[in-house]
Amino acid sequence: MHVDLQEIMLSEQQIKAKVQELGQRISQDYRGESVVLIGILKGSVIFLADLVRCISVPVVFDFMAVSSYGSGTQSSGVVRVLKDLDHSITGKHVLIVEDIVDTGLTLNYLINNLKSRGAASLKVCTLLDKPERRKVNIQIDYHGFSIPDQFVVGYGLDFNSNYRNFPYIAVLKPAVYQN
Ligand code: IMP
Repeated sequence: MHVDLQEIMLSEQQIKAKVQELGQRISQDYRGESVVLIGILKGSVIFLADLVRCISVPVVFDFMAVSSYGSGTQSSGVVRVLKDLDHSITGKHVLIVEDIVDTGLTLNYLINNLKSRGAASLKVCTLLDKPERRKVNIQIDYHGFSIPDQFVVGYGLDFNSNYRNFPYIAVLKPAVYQN
């Protein structure tokens, strides 16, 4: 294990099983339809890549990039769109794919932004959820794991752009971000 990590919270096998379960539920719920998955860059990329391979209905995917964190571990509450969708979602069934919902400020902004574009439906899928830290109430339709209030990295999640490539999700040593 990398020297900056405190412990592994979710193993590769646990994540794989959960992603398969989520993919099956999504496939059942959207049976007979097609769905637009919107990945939120960059954290959701690895989750989205694994999730789409567990979905059996027709899927297209698109990406948005927003910034809510600077380089630290606290949400600023200010959301900026850095990259918008490439295609219109009017009349489409849309599923937002997030890596983690923490305060919920980012997702709240995204839901309101996407709602105004005339999608046929809009749902949310997140791999991780830190319910203790929530500042705004959000409906999460597909939910992987609830985790305690600890800063985690791996499987797409980063600190200062590092650690995204770890195949598991691990707690970062507080000394790494307190310095
Ligand atoms: P929120 O707006 O506070 O819900 O923040 C959501 C975003 O913060 C996520 O998409 C992540 O990019 C980032 N984030 C929140 N908690 C963590 C964490 O424990 N590790 C890495 N990134 C996190």
